[in-house]
Amino acid sequence: MADFRLSDSEQALYERAMEFARKEIVPRAIELDIANEVPVDICQKAYEAGFMNLHIPKEAGGPHNTLFEETLIYEAMGYGDPGVATSINVNNLAFAPLVIGATIEQLQKYVQPMITSEKARFGAFCLTEREAGSDASATKTTAVRDGDEWVINGTKCWITNAPVADLFTVFAQTEPGSGYKGMAVFMVPKDAGVKIGHIENKLGQRASQQSEVIFENVRIPEDCLVGEVGRGFHIAMMTLDMTRTGIASIATGVCQRALDEASRFANTRIAFGKPIIRNQGISFTLADMAAKAHSARLATRHAAWLADNKLPGLGMDSAIAKLLASDYAMQNTTDAIQIMGGYGYAIEYGMETLFRGAKLLQIYEGTNQIQRIVIANELSKRAKTLDTGFRLNYPGVDAPDHSFKQ
Ligand code: CAA
Repeated sequence: MADFRLSDSEQALYERAMEFARKEIVPRAIELDIANEVPVDICQKAYEAGFMNLHIPKEAGGPHNTLFEETLIYEAMGYGDPGVATSINVNNLAFAPLVIGATIEQLQKYVQPMITSEKARFGAFCLTEREAGSDASATKTTAVRDGDEWVINGTKCWITNAPVADLFTVFAQTEPGSGYKGMAVFMVPKDAGVKIGHIENKLGQRASQQSEVIFENVRIPEDCLVGEVGRGFHIAMMTLDMTRTGIASIATGVCQRALDEASRFANTRIAFGKPIIRNQGISFTLADMAAKAHSARLATRHAAWLADNKLPGLGMDSAIAKLLASDYAMQNTTDAIQIMGGYGYAIEYGMETLFRGAKLLQIYEGTNQIQRIVIANELSKRAKTLDTGFRLNYPGVDAPDHSFKQ
């Protein structure tokens, strides 16, 4: 029988992560957003609490957490602040291609020292370029083989945690002009000569940093190649299928926090002689916000459960989870501000920071338009074998190719 309850250890993990969020993140979220830096001290505490580097296998010194466990931790981090959550979460994204494609020996050599040191160390996932954002296969960064080394040239942009990172997971083109078929993924240590360029000045999530990463004749040994040449794009896509549940988790936390703050406010704010929650105009909005937080959580946990059980459909379900949860996060923070009125709009009550942070959830790790492409491509595949039971052919339609792949 299906069971929607958390196990005792999952419940304990969730409560521990929520306690961390309430104690360490919520009270400092506004200050950290203003500071516009990677909150290295909170990341250090998260690292010590076991909230970073979740999926590294035990043979390489990692905890080998499930994706489901990640949803519990990152819902809590998102409840605290989506920018802080992003800073803590990005190692999972940076290391996922290596967990997918690298050998245990490579993980032991390059990743193990990063996740077992006393101080939290950061990885960075380098896919995006100025002309290769949504169109990830348009990558122009090159990797050229020279003896037993690879030479990397190019500039990546919008790379989270790059200013503090020690290891860069870099997607590069080994055969320019061959599109995704020539792509490969490499581990590039910072001390190989990686440079940091322009740091973005963003609307929200300012407790996470994104910057350019510049590779000028950066030489790395041949064992920095992850998997085979030609598989880089596939590894990127498999990574994003998994990690979009992480963004959906952060978004679920934002949905819940917006609901909780707005409920607390509406329960105590008196207007016309009664708490405003007693007006249906307010309480119905809160009810809709609760329905959205609940749906976001279910969709997210379901996608993670699919992945953990190696069941098909992860790509579509993680795209659905990311799409729903981030749109709901935007809607719930907007509604929370409306309920809280001036207090929602003023910086010191926190909802303003949360609202600005929510917007990025609809953009990074694939815009929500890209999520719709992923979902639509899968629908197109499934439509070919769909049997609805309806037997009449549509007039004028024979040998249909209903593909709406974009
Ligand atoms: N898993 C494995 N392989 C996959 C795959 C998947 N989910 N999806 C596609 N592929 C394979 C295909 O099978 C095909 O390979 P074969 O020819 O060998 O069969 C190949 O990849 C090309 O597939 P498509 O033609 O479908 O690829 P496309 O060029 O049309 O792109 C896309 C598809 C979904 C739009 C993709 O480009 C995409 O996801 N774009 C968004 C990129 C993105 O999310 N960037 C985020 C950057 S990270 C970030 O934001 C993080 C941060 O800082 C916090």
